[in-house]
Amino acid sequence: MSLRAKSAAGSAASKAAPIERFAAIVGDKYALREPAEIAPFLHEPRDLYQGRAALVLKPGSTEEVSEILKLAQETKTAIVPQGGNTGLVGGQISFDSQAVVVSTVRLDKIREIDPVTNSMTCEAGIVLARAQEAATKHDHLFPLSLGAEGSCTIGGNLATNAGGTQALSYGVARDLVLGLEVVLAGGRVWHGLRKLKKDNTGYDLRHLFIGSEGTLGIITAAALKLFPAPRSTETAFAGVASPQDALALLNFMQSRFGSSLTSFELIARRGIEFVTKHLPGTREPLAAPHPWYVLAEISSPNAEGVRATLEAALAEAAEKNIVWDAVIAASEAQRMAFWRTRTGLTEVQKPEGGSIKHDISVPVGNVPALIEQAGAAVEKLVPGARPVPFGHLGDGNIHYNISQPVGADRQAFLDRWEEVNAAVHGIVAKLGGSISAEHGIGVLKRELLPGVKDPVELELMRSLKRALDPDGILNPGKVL
Ligand code: LAC
Ligand code: ZN
Repeated sequence: MSLRAKSAAGSAASKAAPIERFAAIVGDKYALREPAEIAPFLHEPRDLYQGRAALVLKPGSTEEVSEILKLAQETKTAIVPQGGNTGLVGGQISFDSQAVVVSTVRLDKIREIDPVTNSMTCEAGIVLARAQEAATKHDHLFPLSLGAEGSCTIGGNLATNAGGTQALSYGVARDLVLGLEVVLAGGRVWHGLRKLKKDNTGYDLRHLFIGSEGTLGIITAAALKLFPAPRSTETAFAGVASPQDALALLNFMQSRFGSSLTSFELIARRGIEFVTKHLPGTREPLAAPHPWYVLAEISSPNAEGVRATLEAALAEAAEKNIVWDAVIAASEAQRMAFWRTRTGLTEVQKPEGGSIKHDISVPVGNVPALIEQAGAAVEKLVPGARPVPFGHLGDGNIHYNISQPVGADRQAFLDRWEEVNAAVHGIVAKLGGSISAEHGIGVLKRELLPGVKDPVELELMRSLKRALDPDGILNPGKVL
């Protein structure tokens, strides 16, 4: 093509409708426009939101993401990045009929596994379970683990700074990142895929993008940390009298196992009832019912002796009266069944009607006060409402979810969402906690943010947003 023909083609292209120009970047096959095709990208797991968008693009490379953001800047088109669409606060949903959803699902290469450096470089669209499997194949562990791991993606995990069930020992998503590749508003690419533990060369920009929910840039790849694969894993279900005793058990187990205590989850009795009622194939974990349950896991680099040590520790805890009963999984199948009881808690709330949710954290020592005070406040506001507190006690993170009273009107109950939130969040504030421990802000908690953030901190966040995305192209209306 001659220079002249090239520039003529360029100007013809720039006259085409933006939709056509966006589609041309990824190719028609990966530009979805039909309502039926884009519908799955506009609907989220909690049925709280129904989105709208002009187009869904599935770029196949960082370069294509860069081209998309360049064109978005030129045409002032809103971009909503989306990974596995499992987010729980609506951050991945587009609400603008002119907006373009950028799905990262085709950024699905594991670029490198470096077992010597203990790192793995994944593109954003890698499903979390695939990243875990790849690490396992190399006799390593990628420890991020959560209920949605079969469909959530690494890019989404990092954009939302996911937590999950092993944060107790390995940290949250943020703690598992060595380097990032990010496409910025306007299309520039930050090539930050370093694999260094030590790198003190100025501001650490990784942490700006992690947890920014797609409002500051689109993460296209990440250098992740790997850990030694555990040689033995032992999982116990324990029945306890109260959150206070669960906390005593946590402290006791930590003193015995240190960072080998990789999970410590709390479940209220009602949660076990919902699971055994609604999830086929599940059963009571212990012979008799208990008011509270703990699901704890020990992961050790030692192949031998862990089970005996755990048995001895649980026996000692029983002697101290902080545990009423406990059982250690006898097989991998039983271990999976234990975890199914825990991860199934999310889905079993649906058949019980409306559910008002909280994803809150307090200093670990304040969890019993939180559960007690929130219970009293909810009962006062909506007599008969059924709290189902569960979650990551070891992290001070409780999913304080409340099912509607039996026989109540679902919508009438859900209409009280904000009122109930205000009461529970007020208690969280008094106890020094956070209104979003691990799910993020998205749209669900956006209006609440100014009420809980330090004004200086909020203004700094706004300044960063203006500096990195002056035209407000990236995931507008989310977080801020
Ligand atoms: C869980 C989700 C709700 O912990 O974060 O099950
Ligand atoms: Zn959780």
